[in-house]
Amino acid sequence: MAKEPTKNTYQKEGHVIAPRDVSFDWNDVPLHYIPNEPFASQFWNIMHLLVPEGEKAMAGTVSEALAYITDERLHEEAVGFVGQEAMHAVSHESFHSRLAEEGVNVEAIISAYNFWFRKVVTDHGLKGRAKEEWLKERLALFAAMEHFTAVVGQWMLDNEALEEAGTHPMVLDLLKWHCAEEVEHRNVLFDVYQHLDGSYIRRLRTGLVGSVGLAVWWLGTAHYLMKHDPAPKKWWKPWPVQMIEATRKHLLPGIQFVVTDLPPYLKPNFHPSEMGPMDKAIKYLATSPAALGAQH
Ligand SMILES: [Fe+2]
Ligand SMILES: [Fe+2]
Repeated sequence: MAKEPTKNTYQKEGHVIAPRDVSFDWNDVPLHYIPNEPFASQFWNIMHLLVPEGEKAMAGTVSEALAYITDERLHEEAVGFVGQEAMHAVSHESFHSRLAEEGVNVEAIISAYNFWFRKVVTDHGLKGRAKEEWLKERLALFAAMEHFTAVVGQWMLDNEALEEAGTHPMVLDLLKWHCAEEVEHRNVLFDVYQHLDGSYIRRLRTGLVGSVGLAVWWLGTAHYLMKHDPAPKKWWKPWPVQMIEATRKHLLPGIQFVVTDLPPYLKPNFHPSEMGPMDKAIKYLATSPAALGAQH
């Protein structure tokens, strides 16, 4: 089912994609690792909880697609992509036991996601044409999600407010390392989708579904986490107010990016390489304590 590369495929940008064997020590990290910012901390906790489930499903889908990729370089990038996403998932999951110690009901949240990632967006044992069509559909859906991780990734690399607010350096490194690799591999899933299918109508449809799904998951989990936050919260403002305030302080990108950054993705000739230079990602990966530690 592979197609010849079209003008909006990987040819615009070449980059070797390879996983880094990072590790993190969560021992002294508090639940509110952005001091005095419960909502902002819980917002990023969603990345630790939701993202690994999505990434495992995404890595599994790209692994399925490997058999159909006839372009050697794209195949190599896709293998590197699977390795990076698997490493992201493992790294965020390594924080789960610490979050559980701090009173977060990690199991309940993960089991809610599992319905979608392990029962809906899976291969369902299909065969033949149905298998190929469903694979294309999932690739398109995950390509849309990858667009948003690249958007948030660039936001994170440009961000200085989190460091200035005293965010725990181990969490900040995890977030920045992950975001840098998201920018580094932003083309791969899109290119795999273009290579195997590239239907614009499918990209349009899954882009809309993906952005709504992401917003619903993120806000739903934020509500749950804030409702069950074990810290005394007698004087807390309602979480949507905290979200607006934290967004204004640049401690999070808000959730509006799923609306504002969708139109560029929906342009017929969009390619992720148009999203600007990836210098900051490359620079961060050269200095990240976790990435440097992985080299030894
Ligand atoms: Fe990732
Ligand atoms: Fe990614």
